[in-house]
Amino acid sequence: MLIQKPVNISPSEITPPELYARRREFMKTAAVWGAVALLPPALRSRLAQAADNDLQRTPYKDVTSYNNFYEFGTGKTDPAENAGSLKTKPWTVTVEGHCEKPGQYTLEDFLAPHQPEERIYRLRCVEAWSMVIPWLGIPLAKILPRFQPTSSAQYVEFTTLFDPEQMPGQRTRILDWPYVEGLRMDEAMHPLTLLATGLYGKELPNQNGAPLRLVAPWKYGFKSIKSIVKIRFTEQQPATTWNREIPSEYGFYANVNPNVDHPRWSQKKERRIGDFFRRDTLMFNGYAEQVAGLYAEMDLRKDF
Ligand code: MTE
Repeated sequence: MLIQKPVNISPSEITPPELYARRREFMKTAAVWGAVALLPPALRSRLAQAADNDLQRTPYKDVTSYNNFYEFGTGKTDPAENAGSLKTKPWTVTVEGHCEKPGQYTLEDFLAPHQPEERIYRLRCVEAWSMVIPWLGIPLAKILPRFQPTSSAQYVEFTTLFDPEQMPGQRTRILDWPYVEGLRMDEAMHPLTLLATGLYGKELPNQNGAPLRLVAPWKYGFKSIKSIVKIRFTEQQPATTWNREIPSEYGFYANVNPNVDHPRWSQKKERRIGDFFRRDTLMFNGYAEQVAGLYAEMDLRKDF
């Protein structure tokens, strides 16, 4: 998501400062693993399994202080510092387009009667960092049918609030506001796709997209549009913010794919926030078994 980029340094190569602080911790861990190497192989492999941290949750502090939310600035700590000005109560969601029940709904009415459930998902940003976040959310597939989309509804378009008074980043022209994202109808109705209202068992902090944000865990993070005020059922593929901004770098589908590099950096590896070493990026961010079928007919190099 870097518009102004230092020459020839890929974002995945920049070690965030907090990682240096963790170096001591890492050295201690290395010493322990040195001792582990002396254990019998069977015991060693059991220990290795226990240490598999693939779904180890990223600390709350990191999830809520290292963010992308350009409406509050382009720095990673800007959203946590500036998003206090966003007023999320009351909140209205407008439903439009190809459906039988369009209208303006209060947030409570829009979500009712469903209760948020916890889902622990990996989030992989296109910038090659990742986190594991325990979301509270409602599957979009439970919410959309109520509006009775018609057979012309092939896509769902989502729009973020536009209010430069509350969102200081919108006073600049860094993006063509408001932020817009979209999913194909079958992606929107996939059981993994959530509308998140919270994380770590609490309400969503503003910097994470309060009061309502999308989470499609097999896609790059920029699809996870925050602070949604409008949902529109469309027949044509919606024009989405990053795709419109730089189409050669950000596709509409944005499925996590280690085999298709970003034109300016590799997508093969990622740095899990808090880890010292980079790890392999998984096809569809590790959700291939659940979602690969959605793209069976597609050339993922062309429809990236
Ligand atoms: N939604 C809006 N409205 N504005 C944004 O700038 N950034 C996206 C996405 N949703 C963004 C947004 C990007 S690039 C990422 S990686 C995720 O939000 C980051 O979500 P997080 O800050 O909760 O980790």
